[in-house]
Amino acid sequence: MRLENKVALITGGANGVKGDLMGFGGACAWRFVQEGAKVVIADLDASNGEETAKQIKKEAGNAEFIRLDVTKDSDWKSAVDFTIKAYGKLDILVNCAGTASVERVEDTTEEIWDAQMDVHAKGALLGTQAVLPLMIAHGSGSIINLSSINGLIGSQSSTAYHAAKGAVRLLTKNTAIQHAKDGVRANSVHPGYADTPMTKPLFSDEDALALRLNKVPLGRLGTADEIANGIIYLASDESSFVTGSELVIDGGMTAQ
Ligand SMILES: NC(=O)c1ccc[n+]([C@@H]2O[C@H](COP(=O)([O-])OP(=O)(O)OC[C@H]3O[C@@H](n4cnc5c(N)ncnc54)[C@H](O)[C@@H]3O)[C@@H](O)[C@H]2O)c1
Repeated sequence: MRLENKVALITGGANGVKGDLMGFGGACAWRFVQEGAKVVIADLDASNGEETAKQIKKEAGNAEFIRLDVTKDSDWKSAVDFTIKAYGKLDILVNCAGTASVERVEDTTEEIWDAQMDVHAKGALLGTQAVLPLMIAHGSGSIINLSSINGLIGSQSSTAYHAAKGAVRLLTKNTAIQHAKDGVRANSVHPGYADTPMTKPLFSDEDALALRLNKVPLGRLGTADEIANGIIYLASDESSFVTGSELVIDGGMTAQ
């Protein structure tokens, strides 16, 4: 019970329906509850989100769903109010919502750029701003932002995604530095290529998959559970001296 008595708000957690391929947020929702936490799943996808919360409630413990667009400040206020009404406090924020983009520099339109910056960088900023007052008042809190290996290194594609994930990395460090004195920790997670609903369309293409796996020393895709394992550590008090750090979970890809 590594998260006993903790309350977590997890964005992008809708893909947690049993029997379906899970995303990182969906896997976290299950694993957090199994470790003793109460969770609110917040996502644009109400259908899968409601179903995930329903299944967790039936089989594991406390889970609720609220529809949230991470790019909208008013939605964040509602999600935080909802969490407080449901569970009375908020200890952990996992900023996991995201979308993919694949374009090279010259093909990155303003619309693609803005959409990537909005969902990843602005979404994480608005979420951080929404939970900070509560965490400061409580004297503790853990914010975990999903960046990516693409927030650490460049590649032949996904320009706006890389830039947005790089912004998430440094937003995390600023949050960590500015709020360490308040007892609030912030860390970024940098997954490598993993098998989730978001990547399924791209990795179903054999050539695109082989191109990527060739660069991974462990030679396979990661799973949502393997990423959730790292997020649980950062959410729990086991990581009480860890803030402003980057947890890379990538099968060795960025070690070379
Ligand atoms: N899968 C990978 O290989 C990989 C690697 C590195 C980083 N990541 C990052 O990890 C996070 C989770 O990815 P995943 O692959 O598990 O995703 P996933 O398949 O679970 O899908 C992401 C979720 O975010 C939700 N979402 C999208 N836009 C939203 C918005 N505006 N407001 C609220 N919810 C929104 C979607 O509805 C979906 O449920 C993302 O930030 C992604 O960029 C993924």
